[in-house]
Amino acid sequence: MMKPSHTFAALIIAWFSVLGSIQAVTLEVKEGNSTCIKAELSASFSITYNTSNSTTSVSVPLPNSTTVDTGSSSCGADGRSPWLVAVFGSGHALGLSFTTNGSLYSVANLTLQYNLSDSSFFPGANSSDVVTVVSSSVGIWAPINSTYRCFSPITFKVGEATVTFSDMKLEAYMPGNDLSPTESVCIADKAGTTAPPTTAGTTTVAPPPTPAGKPEQGTYSVNNTNGTVCLLAQMGLQLNVSYFSRSQNKTIQALVNLVPNVTNPSGSCNTTSATLTLTEANATMLSFSFTLNTTNNKYHLSTITLQANWSDMAGTFSVGNNSLDYMRSTLGRSYMCNAEQILEVGPTFSLNTFRLQVQPFQVTTNQFATAEECQMDQDQMLIPIVVGAALAGLVLIILIAYLIGRRRSHAGYQTI
Ligand SMILES: *[C@@H]1O[C@H](CO)[C@@H](O)[C@H](O)[C@H]1NC(C)=O
Ligand SMILES: *[C@@H]1O[C@H](CO)[C@@H](O)[C@H](O)[C@H]1NC(C)=O
Ligand SMILES: *[C@@H]1O[C@H](CO)[C@@H](O)[C@H](O)[C@H]1NC(C)=O
Ligand SMILES: *[C@@H]1O[C@H](CO)[C@@H](O)[C@H](O)[C@H]1NC(C)=O
Ligand SMILES: *[C@@H]1O[C@H](CO)[C@@H](O)[C@H](O)[C@H]1NC(C)=O
Ligand SMILES: *[C@@H]1O[C@H](CO)[C@@H](O)[C@H](O)[C@H]1NC(C)=O
Ligand SMILES: *[C@@H]1O[C@H](CO)[C@@H](O)[C@H](O)[C@H]1NC(C)=O
Ligand SMILES: *[C@@H]1O[C@H](CO)[C@@H](O)[C@H](O)[C@H]1NC(C)=O
Ligand SMILES: *[C@@H]1O[C@H](CO)[C@@H](O)[C@H](O)[C@H]1NC(C)=O
Ligand SMILES: *[C@@H]1O[C@H](CO)[C@@H](O)[C@H](O)[C@H]1NC(C)=O
Ligand SMILES: *[C@@H]1O[C@H](CO)[C@@H](O)[C@H](O)[C@H]1NC(C)=O
Ligand SMILES: *[C@@H]1O[C@H](CO)[C@@H](O)[C@H](O)[C@H]1NC(C)=O
Repeated sequence: MMKPSHTFAALIIAWFSVLGSIQAVTLEVKEGNSTCIKAELSASFSITYNTSNSTTSVSVPLPNSTTVDTGSSSCGADGRSPWLVAVFGSGHALGLSFTTNGSLYSVANLTLQYNLSDSSFFPGANSSDVVTVVSSSVGIWAPINSTYRCFSPITFKVGEATVTFSDMKLEAYMPGNDLSPTESVCIADKAGTTAPPTTAGTTTVAPPPTPAGKPEQGTYSVNNTNGTVCLLAQMGLQLNVSYFSRSQNKTIQALVNLVPNVTNPSGSCNTTSATLTLTEANATMLSFSFTLNTTNNKYHLSTITLQANWSDMAGTFSVGNNSLDYMRSTLGRSYMCNAEQILEVGPTFSLNTFRLQVQPFQVTTNQFATAEECQMDQDQMLIPIVVGAALAGLVLIILIAYLIGRRRSHAGYQTI
């Protein structure tokens, strides 16, 4: 994984390039006089390369002058995948290959080729290579005979580069020569209701995502390389984020719940650390890392990072902290906290957890081991005990008072 600071720098660069020099291009792949792939999009690339004494990042927008390479592009005759290859500048190219199963089509892989000898893009590069990087399963898909639409920026990591698309409309396996009127809207656009139609140059933007009440509890797990579950988690998660809202033109604080049924877990486990990454709808990525101290066999949650790219945000929001000390528990046990916990991560982000149970190490038979409960739960369990004890005390006092009273009145009768 990239260092958070690098990721952040890359994202900032991507953000400025998106805001700064956004240009929409239209690309078409034809066979004879019928169009099979059409894309209207803006794109920018953030590329990391080495100079003689350091490593730098540049941001390159897909220029207006981009054209389709008719030699490499194809509509996919004789069993090959349809392929859109767009070329720009001095030996740079962006490729999208498609696949379909009859009812859905998707981008099978995203290819970026860049020519480090082009000093206008890569000043001071210590290499003159033409680098080709490929990413598969980018998650761009739509039903056949519909147009994939994503106005929100969506970012993909491809080798040493990141590719950000925005204002995108795309269709492959087209039934006609123009984009189908039926649109399949990406989840990033749905997350903040509708995204801005920036093509018209207007400044209307989406409202911020609406907060809900308590978040729903999700169940997430991470598998070992050998397929056994190595991390188990059950929790409701709520993000408390301060960010600059495009719709309100000011920094706002938003409470946003993670919705379990559109959130996918991934991650990895080894002997002293375990990571769970939750990705919601390509627009939110929340990551937890647990660390085991083998000296005392205690573990804790040491890192939380959040990357968000909601349509109301002016750019990608990225916060992380790797020196946290939350959810302390013992190896072989799980950690449980039913009460709401507020985990401060940074000045612009805290995470609220509800009905939580996690076990990052030594999970056997897909089940939680005995739990160590958080202090708040223990305190809450104490309340009924304290109340019960107080009530018992009160009953005892009343009883004693009654007995004393009775004895006194008996004594009174005897004197008469
Ligand atoms: C394709 O173009 C040829 C001539 O170039 C024309 O005869 C034919 O009708 C066209 N087909 C369609 C479907 O437009
Ligand atoms: C940059 O140089 C470092 C070593 O100095 C190397 O590990 C890394 O792979 C290089 N990166 C690229 C993009 O060539
Ligand atoms: C390399 O480092 C030296 C000093 O260490 C600096 O003067 C020079 O400008 C650097 N070169 C590049 C290409 O950054
Ligand atoms: C890479 O860029 C250099 C310099 O601009 C150019 O001479 C060369 O032809 C380019 N390579 C390719 C494969 O286009
Ligand atoms: C295509 O893939 C989708 C999702 O995997 C699936 O729901 C659908 O049934 C598949 N269609 C066919 C014809 O296989
Ligand atoms: C890109 O996707 C196509 C279609 O699935 C596949 O045949 C090809 O091998 C992929 N290319 C790479 C470099 O992964
Ligand atoms: C897509 O549209 C074409 C032409 O309108 C039609 O022949 C085809 O059956 C449609 N395919 C699907 C999967 O709806
Ligand atoms: C594979 O699973 C076993 C438990 O069934 C576990 O002890 C072992 O560490 C796992 N191996 C790897 C490489 O994760
Ligand atoms: C993890 O393993 C379980 C079975 O142990 C399996 O059902 C599940 O699909 C696996 N998940 C992933 C992401 O591989
Ligand atoms: C946003 O606010 C700033 C100052 O607060 C103002 O200058 C700017 O015009 C506003 N932009 C929009 C689009 O309302
Ligand atoms: C997710 O769950 C909500 C309610 O909990 C439901 O309304 C929605 O349809 C579900 N979405 C999917 C994709 O299952
Ligand atoms: C592990 O625990 C021991 C004993 O509590 C402590 O002295 C040590 O600093 C801890 N190590 C780390 C890396 O936190």
